[in-house]
Amino acid sequence: MKVQLHQKGRASVDFLADLGMWSGGLGPTVNELMASRGLVDNGLAEDLDERIAQVDAAMADSPTYFAWSEMGEFLSKRHGVVAHEAFEEIKPEILPELDQLEKGPTQIERADQDPTPDYARGVEFHRTTGGWDGHPYQGFVHGEIIHRKYVAKNYPGDIFGQRRSVLSELPRQDYQRIFEMGTSSGHFTVPLQETFPDAQITGCDMSATMMEQAQRAANERGWNWRLLQVPAENTGLESGSFDLVASFILLHEMPASAIRNIFAEAYRLLEPGGDMLMSDVRPFRDMDRLTEWRAYYLAVNGGEPHWLEAATIDLAAVAEEVGFVNARSFAHIEEFRYPWVTVAHKPE
Ligand SMILES: C[S@@+](CC[C@H](N)C(=O)[O-])C[C@H]1O[C@@H](n2cnc3c(N)ncnc32)[C@H](O)[C@@H]1O
Repeated sequence: MKVQLHQKGRASVDFLADLGMWSGGLGPTVNELMASRGLVDNGLAEDLDERIAQVDAAMADSPTYFAWSEMGEFLSKRHGVVAHEAFEEIKPEILPELDQLEKGPTQIERADQDPTPDYARGVEFHRTTGGWDGHPYQGFVHGEIIHRKYVAKNYPGDIFGQRRSVLSELPRQDYQRIFEMGTSSGHFTVPLQETFPDAQITGCDMSATMMEQAQRAANERGWNWRLLQVPAENTGLESGSFDLVASFILLHEMPASAIRNIFAEAYRLLEPGGDMLMSDVRPFRDMDRLTEWRAYYLAVNGGEPHWLEAATIDLAAVAEEVGFVNARSFAHIEEFRYPWVTVAHKPE
């Protein structure tokens, strides 16, 4: 789907993307200023919440720190609003195409009642206006405007290439029945299908609004995905139905107990000999104190209430607790120490 924004929307989204780059560009200067004030290594408080307060207080008179933090705040508040406004401008011409692409082999099996787990209820993840169901066309708005035109320009590396290349970490390349957790707008589902062209893909998400964009992506390519609006931890599907269960950037949106439930559900859904691949954020234990501070600052101020818990637990250990063997967690791209991949095997 080719998306061309109108002048005002395009300029506004580009402005935010550029502002994100300027703000990111200030990062090394902020680090140097912090170092000059002793805010490195053991000069930083051990507790992460204390560390945030310590740095805020110690840097309060720094115009650079003020600019960096205020730009971040502005971007968090504005990106969803700007994307919705940009959508309104193109709405008359794009709606027929969006609605047409909901017709085709891929259909969504919708839940009778909102399946959102308590820990996600009412949360505006990423501080995106209204959260995952915040707009009737949020799947398109988030997937095609926010993700493709704003996030992709500000995240390290090629966020779409990463979704494809993590699949090279799998021990096999012949999967036939794949279950994806947290399908959202389909940005991981497309490379899954392209990498395993003969596989039947089933995806799930608690938000049908987000999955509508995955549905369009599949129908545009003539693919037949089964998309279910169910919580990933309790899919209601038959045990042993899949040979691969996978997710990309889902786990940091839930507390540790939910991650454990999701791994247990993945184990149940896999046939003996099947594999799990979960790709997510870099864990705190892989960072020095300064890097940890920045990651936690961005999570706290960026609408990520569960990031701390999710990035603290040892995912390979949790996988083995629920029955997997040969579980490994590691950085897929050395330069960024991201995406952080957990691969595990269900014994024969
Ligand atoms: C960051 S997005 C995932 C993005 C997508 N996998 C990709 O690669 O771009 C997180 C998605 O997971 C969904 N989600 C979060 N927790 C979930 C849960 N417990 N069960 C099902 N879906 C969930 C959200 O609705 C959202 O669409």
